[in-house]
Amino acid sequence: MNKLTETVPTGVPGLDELMSGGFPKGRVILVIGGPGTGKTVLTTQFLYKGITDFNENGIIVSLDEGKNHFYSEMLNFGWDFKKAEEEGKFAFVDATRLSRVAMLKEKMMKTESSSLRGKSLEVDKLVEELQAKIKHINAKRVIIDSLAALFYRFTDATERRTAGVDLIEALSDLGVTILITTELSQLGLERKISDEEFLVHGVVIMQTLFIGGTTSRGMQVEKMRGVSVNPNLVPYTIDRTGIEVFPTMSIFREK
Ligand SMILES: Nc1ncnc2c1ncn2[C@@H]1O[C@H](COP(=O)(O)OP(=O)(O)OP(=O)(O)O)[C@@H](O)[C@H]1O
Ligand SMILES: [Mg+2]
Repeated sequence: MNKLTETVPTGVPGLDELMSGGFPKGRVILVIGGPGTGKTVLTTQFLYKGITDFNENGIIVSLDEGKNHFYSEMLNFGWDFKKAEEEGKFAFVDATRLSRVAMLKEKMMKTESSSLRGKSLEVDKLVEELQAKIKHINAKRVIIDSLAALFYRFTDATERRTAGVDLIEALSDLGVTILITTELSQLGLERKISDEEFLVHGVVIMQTLFIGGTTSRGMQVEKMRGVSVNPNLVPYTIDRTGIEVFPTMSIFREK
């Protein structure tokens, strides 16, 4: 274990125990999971607890939902982002214009930017906007929710890979701890490993499993560069206070 790697507490009970203290500071971490597994809740909890418990300001770049909807949804967990914003500790970057829905609308209006340069420019502009916001509120934590929505516009596999490399490189240079959510393409051992997984510094996988007639939620820290990890698949729950991980329990029922 490299003791020189500084970590930041995740704010998610039990999760730090899987990673000897937390996420590697200033690095890019991918949170992968299927629909409804809790990617938005997990990353938002990391951001909110950063603000309230660890004195680290935060920014969310949301491609999936607008600000008002996000604020009201997160109030269900007791997380008051409006207040955090008013105190200058939080900023919301609405990037829904770059999402899949926006793309479909562009297609219908035939205003879609078809050149690769045009598409990359959109992503570059987003990184610039993010950079300015980070400076402005002195942010230490950023989440991008989700990469799948951002990359929907790159239909060609090579274009998408290039954009992914460029984006992750640009984000690595920002000096803040970044969580990026993305969709799980396939479950199980033969799961296709995406290019992004090789590029980022850490990968957390969230799954809903069907075991013995019931569904269970399982989390796994697949990799975390510079930090020793417990790579077991362990249970987690989502309730009114957010996510809790049970690092010493097994997802498979003991007999
Ligand atoms: N107040 C709550 N109490 C308990 N569970 C909740 C609460 N709010 C949401 N959930 C659970 O959290 C899940 C949604 O989590 P979240 O939106 O973070 O998933 P996601 O992985 O981001 O999904 P998507 O891929 O659709 O964006 C739901 O499946 C629901 O079961
Ligand atoms: Mg989500």
